[in-house]
Order: sequence, then C-alpha cells, then structure tokens
Amino acid sequence: MRIAIVGSGYVGLVSGACFADFGHDVCCIDKDPAKIDRLTAGIMPIYEPGLAELVGNNVRAERLTFTTDLAEGIKDAEAIFIAVGTPSRRGDGHADLSFVHAVAEEVGRNLLRPAVIVTKSTVPVGTGDEVERIIEDTGTMVHFAVASNPEFLREGAAIGDFKRPDRIVVGTEDEWARQIMNEVYRPLFLNRSPILFTSRRSAELIKYAANAFLATKITFINEIADLCENVGADVQDVARGMGMDNRIGAKFLHAGPGYGGSCFPKDTLALLKTAEDFGSPTRIVDAVVRVNESRKRAMGRKVIEALSSACNGGAVRGKRVAMLGLTFKPNTDDMRDAPSLSIAQTLLDAGLDVTAYDPEGMELAGPMLPDVAMCNSAYEAITGADAVVIVTEWDSFRALDLKKVASLVRTPVLVDLRNVYDPAEAKALGFHYVSVGRS
Ligand SMILES: NC(=O)c1ccc[n+]([C@@H]2O[C@H](COP(=O)([O-])OP(=O)(O)OC[C@H]3O[C@@H](n4cnc5c(N)ncnc54)[C@H](O)[C@@H]3O)[C@@H](O)[C@H]2O)c1
Repeated sequence: MRIAIVGSGYVGLVSGACFADFGHDVCCIDKDPAKIDRLTAGIMPIYEPGLAELVGNNVRAERLTFTTDLAEGIKDAEAIFIAVGTPSRRGDGHADLSFVHAVAEEVGRNLLRPAVIVTKSTVPVGTGDEVERIIEDTGTMVHFAVASNPEFLREGAAIGDFKRPDRIVVGTEDEWARQIMNEVYRPLFLNRSPILFTSRRSAELIKYAANAFLATKITFINEIADLCENVGADVQDVARGMGMDNRIGAKFLHAGPGYGGSCFPKDTLALLKTAEDFGSPTRIVDAVVRVNESRKRAMGRKVIEALSSACNGGAVRGKRVAMLGLTFKPNTDDMRDAPSLSIAQTLLDAGLDVTAYDPEGMELAGPMLPDVAMCNSAYEAITGADAVVIVTEWDSFRALDLKKVASLVRTPVLVDLRNVYDPAEAKALGFHYVSVGRS
C-alpha cells in the first residue's frame, strides 16, 4: 500500500519508518527543508533509540522517501496521515489546530486520486468533521474519507510501541476507509494487536481520555508521595502494594517531579477546554492540571530547602546546584514542558548558580535555559556543586559512582527526584539525601 505522512516529527517519522518496515511504500513529508535535508542525508532530526537504523534500512530498501513537496508526496497515496503538531494555543490552552487545518487544505487542493485522510495528530473532538469540511471547501472532485487514528507511542520506546501496540484505535463511519485502515495495519494482526473500530468522535476522545487518565495516575501518586513524607511511609512500597492489584496496575505509579513532555500537559489542558465548551466540566482533570503545575516549582523549593538545611538553615544565595537530566524523561531529547525548566528557574530565582548535564537533551535545552551552565559530563556538572539533583532517570545516572560524586561535590547534598538511589547507601556515604516520598 502507498502511504503519505504529512509532518515528519516524533510521530510522523516513527510511523513512516514503521509502516515502511511493514512493507508499505511510504513518503514522509515535512515543510521544514532543513529536516528533510537531514533525513535525506541519513541524519535523524530527533533522538529516538533504533530510529536511525530503521530509517536507513527502509530508505535502502526503497520503501521510504522524504520530500518537502506535499503535492508530489501524496500523488499516489491511498492513505494520507496528518501527523503535524497540535501545541497549546497561546493564551487559552485550546489545541492549536492551525497546522492540521493548513495540511487539510493543501491536501484537498492537491488530491489526484481517491484517498483516506487520517488524523494521527492528537486533535479535539470534532476536528475530523472540520478536516472533512476544509477538504470539501477546496472544491476537490476526488473521492475521499476522513478517519481518526490517534497515536499512543511513547518517546524513548516509540518503535516498540508502534510495532507492538496495546491497541490500534480507528474512528470512521465509512466502510471503504475501514478497509483501507485494515490494510494499513494488516501486518500488525500477525502480532495479534487488537484493532478497535469506533466512531470518529469516540476515537478522538479516546486519546484525550487515555492521556488524562495517565496524567491523573501520576499526579495521584505524587500527592501520596507528599503524604508519605509527612506520615513516615515509603511511597515506593505504597505504589508496589497498590500496583499489585490488577484493577490498578503498577504502571504510572512512580512518584517524581510532575509530568511534562510533549503530550500530557497540552492534552490535559485541551481536554479541559473541550469539556468546558461542551458544558461538561472535567473537575478531576482540572485538579490534576493545577496540582501538577504547582509541583514543578515545589520541586525547586525542595532542593533549596535541602541545601539550606544542610547548611544549618543558612542562606543559599550564590551556592551551586548541579542538575542531572533535563529532558522530561530518559531516552529522548524532547524538552517540551520538561519539569527541569521550572525547577531550574526556581533555583535561578533564588540566586543559585546552576550547572547541568543531559546525555541527549542539551542541544535543545541550551537556548531554553540560557542562564544554566551546560557541562560535558555528569561528573563535570557535579564538581564543586553544593547540591546534586537527579531530575531525569537516565540509566547512566543510576550507575553513577556515588563515592566519586561525594569526593567531587563541595557540600554532599543529593536530591533524588526520581528515587533511583538507595537512601541507606547514600546516607552511609555522608550525603544529606532527600528523595520523593521516602522518609
Ligand atoms: N511526541 C509524542 O510522543 C506523541 C505521541 C502521541 C501523539 N502525539 C501527537 O502527534 C502530533 C505530532 O507530534 P510530534 O511530537 O510528532 O510533533 P513534532 O513537532 O515533532 O512534529 C511535527 C512536524 O510537522 C511539521 N509540519 C507542521 N506543519 C506542516 C505542514 N503544513 N506540512 C508539512 N509538515 C508540517 C513540522 O515541521 C514538524 O516537523 C501531535 O498532535 C502530538 O500531540 C505525539
């Protein structure tokens, strides 16, 4: 099957490479010429484990091509996926659909053969109707249908998630679109991935409801972690005890500095706006958004308190904090809405100097954190620091030699916002050790 993907970012590029790997003939389109030039030269525009190899293999097999020319890219396609960004609209938090609408219009103007237009971008309920209207308004005489196929991959594990998804959700009321989508995902039936066909509106809402639920789970355990600190319990034991219950499940019960990234913050906000517009306020999600937002700066204050208490309540201004990890989670270079941004700002606002190291995120983080000194290694960031903060749980930080860390810092304060170290070991090495929800 011939497939076009419009938007070659985290979702578009991974989807395109995986579809090609299934044996489809795929063209990935992006309006950013620098991105397409890099892809054509075999250079990945993002960090995602395994992606360079997958893209390389499928380009060599002539199943995967790249272009900035949408008309050329879609001309033979039977399925055209829209995978452009839907960031929060400045000012009101609604999903900004201008990129999706622009693609719909361009597709309509350039459609040469019957095709199913599939929104893979995360879009609010009713966007499929709008995409259909925009394409009709271009006056195209070519037969088309619009389907919704939200994407659930996780950055850092994107290829595995795409190839072995828990489920594939397809929203369409059109029998022909259903057949095309069955054909697109047929290779996955061999992996026994369930495909859920539903209405377009239900598919659109499934994505937001799923993300809001996961964000709620994270926020729930974060509040329980705060309670653990105050009552002398251990949140990791509490989470394990909860997660062993199959009705609850162990995933997304890791206490930390609050959720961030390219999806949860904007998608929870967009759901609130949709719910408001349709007169069904989602009060639980509203609380989740507010609790999570305040948590990020609270984590900065937690570092300041730890430092101050290690200095017997003394002033912290002018002291130096080393932040290990900047991306919102490990195995990605994505800095969108990363908690590190608020944490660093809180530390800078308190007059602290901040050094940082991240294995993959520093190129994107540098311009976002101009007052933070970026270092070439974790040990360089740590040297002479008055406090070390684990912000992102990269494997390389789990394996840090804590003895060496203790010998390099000026004051042995270790704030472990991801609970990766053994408190007893850290304390035995003389650290003033502070975790999340473990007393
Ligand atoms: N990143 C994730 O983990 C993830 C997971 C599931 C769903 N999603 C959703 O998928 C969508 C895409 O997210 P992303 O992270 O891949 O975004 P991204 O910003 O990495 O990529 C979007 C790409 O679209 C391109 N683009 C914008 N307008 C275009 C146009 N008119 N023509 C061609 N290309 C255009 C941009 O240049 C960019 O390369 C969003 O709606 C997001 O919410 C993302």
